[in-house]
Amino acid sequence: MSVQTIQTTPIDGQKPGTSGLRKKTAVFMQPGYLENYTQAIFDGIGGISSKTLVVGGDGRYFNDVAIGTILRMAAANGAAKCIVGQGGLLSTPAASHLIRKRKADGGLILSASHNPGGPDADFGLKYNGPNGGPATEGVTEKIFARTMEIDAYHILEGGDIDLDTQGDSQLGDMQIEIVDPVADYAELMGTLFDFDAIAGLFRGGFRMCFDAMHAVTGPYAHEILERRLGAPAGTVMNGTPSPDFGGGHPDPNPVWAKVLMDVMCAKDAPDFGAASDGDGDRNMIVGRRCYVSPSDSLALLADKADLAPGYAAGLAGVARSMPTSAAADRVAEAKGMAHFETPTGWKFFGNLLDADKVTLCGEESAGTGSNHVREKDGLWAVLLWLNILAVTGKSVSELMEAHWTTYGRNYYSRHDYEAVDSPVANDLIADLRERLGELPGQKVGVLTVSGADEFAYDDPVDGSTSTGQGIRIYFEGGGRAVFRLSGTGTDGATLRVYLEQLETAPDALDQDPQDALAGIIAAADTLAEIKARTGRDGPDVIT
Ligand code: G1P
Ligand code: ZN
Repeated sequence: MSVQTIQTTPIDGQKPGTSGLRKKTAVFMQPGYLENYTQAIFDGIGGISSKTLVVGGDGRYFNDVAIGTILRMAAANGAAKCIVGQGGLLSTPAASHLIRKRKADGGLILSASHNPGGPDADFGLKYNGPNGGPATEGVTEKIFARTMEIDAYHILEGGDIDLDTQGDSQLGDMQIEIVDPVADYAELMGTLFDFDAIAGLFRGGFRMCFDAMHAVTGPYAHEILERRLGAPAGTVMNGTPSPDFGGGHPDPNPVWAKVLMDVMCAKDAPDFGAASDGDGDRNMIVGRRCYVSPSDSLALLADKADLAPGYAAGLAGVARSMPTSAAADRVAEAKGMAHFETPTGWKFFGNLLDADKVTLCGEESAGTGSNHVREKDGLWAVLLWLNILAVTGKSVSELMEAHWTTYGRNYYSRHDYEAVDSPVANDLIADLRERLGELPGQKVGVLTVSGADEFAYDDPVDGSTSTGQGIRIYFEGGGRAVFRLSGTGTDGATLRVYLEQLETAPDALDQDPQDALAGIIAAADTLAEIKARTGRDGPDVIT
């Protein structure tokens, strides 16, 4: 075995986005590409000499090969130890928990989240810090700066790596510990939720369908839902992780989890449906013929989390990303709880959680989580819902109807325009930015603009400022349209348009969201000239 130092030159475009670096798999597989970025991470965090790292991924194509390279590079860079999920698997929340539980110095998570996997699809790599959360903006900038000046990487040649057998081994001077990816996480869930109450629900004939979407949560869901909570075998569908997620798109929303939606809309639908994404941090919640939007889910969980043992003392506060609907704010205000609005991306919740300013966080993109880890957590959200269903004895639709009656309903939808020409998308945002000052007072169709700005965030904990976080246009009567470009796409630009309308009239709480939002949708198109500029008839994905 010998440490090799390989000369290299910077590779264009290794700029980490909303959650790490995400590219086509073929890009990551180019000679030296993964190595360059991995070395930039190690250098960017100040070196890894004598450090302990957690390493694991969502099992997508190239996961195991990439882990081998990362371990060889960690050994060559002087790491003391790597803790690795068996088979190279670790869900994002389980990795976050492992970093925290083992007091590791950080972790590398291999995933492109909900993006498809395979040789022609997507791959990704992100660094999480010692608090278990995504790298902060400051650390991300340091990593990016290193990618632009890197001139060499270090890698250990020779020696075997066996990812499949639990236990300790050596790679050069570095220790490798292969761990059960599920055990620690399952134990943590048992401390937060009333497993007896949930098991009682299943014993009483409650039926559930969990779609693991051929992704990483399969093993976690089989263990927790079927083995520990006694849900009947078959409750978990698509529960074996596959390198290309069964050819699907592991994104838990009504579009990509259509099979589950169909099950939940059938005559003999189960009581509860849920799904999680590629790396297990997103969730979809659906009752019998009742889809719960992620923004509404966050609001309901904020209202009722104290029914679960882990949150019985109440919540310190709740945070949501800016494009997420204000439904959670309404709960927080009613309960006298602090609430925060952060830029898109889980990294912005970390400081608030670390400083105990909030207990629950969520994003409209199907991410919900709490202070138990520093990532969003798909199965956690499912278990909190199950706990609430068990304690209240109500159905999902009964809970949502009661919620809207109490707090009003924030009708909500996100329209995505995918693979838009980058210059077209950039111009659309830039022109909107230019016109922000002229918009207030302007009439657009039946609506009147009441305010417009570009979101910037002052972190109340570390004082840092993040600008350019999305254009917000408010309308009289409680409507809002938000425009931003995705930071996770791998194909041109994705324009996201977030649409919201508050409704409090008791007889108007049962509309189809697209109907309730029709005025805002039309106004958004008029103001941003979406159809004219992109040449599209409508969005590619509506959630
Ligand atoms: C998307 C979501 C965002 C989420 C991120 C990582 O980012 O919109 O809420 O945090 O994926 O899962 P975007 O592509 O919009 O930058
Ligand atoms: Zn994810």
